[in-house]
Amino acid sequence: MSLQLGDSAPDFHAETTAGRIRFYDWMNGDWAVLFSHPKDFTPVCTTELAEVARLKSRFDRRNVKVIGLSVDPLDAHKRWASDIKETQGYSLNFPLIADEDLRVATLYGMIHPNAAAAETVRAVFVIGADKRVKLMMTYPATTGRNFEEILRVIDSLQLTEDFDVATPVNWSYGDDVIIIPALTDKQAREQFPAGWDNVRPYMRVIHQPSRGH
Ligand code: BEZ
Repeated sequence: MSLQLGDSAPDFHAETTAGRIRFYDWMNGDWAVLFSHPKDFTPVCTTELAEVARLKSRFDRRNVKVIGLSVDPLDAHKRWASDIKETQGYSLNFPLIADEDLRVATLYGMIHPNAAAAETVRAVFVIGADKRVKLMMTYPATTGRNFEEILRVIDSLQLTEDFDVATPVNWSYGDDVIIIPALTDKQAREQFPAGWDNVRPYMRVIHQPSRGH
């Protein structure tokens, strides 16, 4: 059975470019983004890893650690890191897992045999501080991901964990949000005493409550 939202994210030990880690210890109480890429020394992956390095401080601000994975060996990861720096201008500033025996890839269902037998697809797992899977995305090898979108989703996940709200289509941090339908008007008044715009009884719009980051 593959992983589903709300499941406990499997813990593991792994060799990485930052040394051997136990995943839960490495998270150290923060959130995590665990993402796989198909292969080292490939162009799309090179651009993706540089982009994650560029955005690293924005993940940090949200208390989110990032970690990449492919089934290539550690020495390949290390050699490829110089190419990433030389061609994209960003040094790897987060660990890359060398999952040569496919253990982590298999635990997280990152190998999709009908897409590629021995390479990971472009999977993304956002894992909360409670070690639960909050979001999963899967892209094929030929489509690079948009990591700004992953930051946007993390903003929504963290906000909706703190308040009884949901974020509408194309929402980004600071935009209006919606009180979740499960909250009665009486409960909503307690949580949001300033009131809301009652577009419909099921669509109660408020300014975004603040988390700050
Ligand atoms: C790439 O990262 O460029 C790539 C990797 C595997 C297949 C196709 C493209």
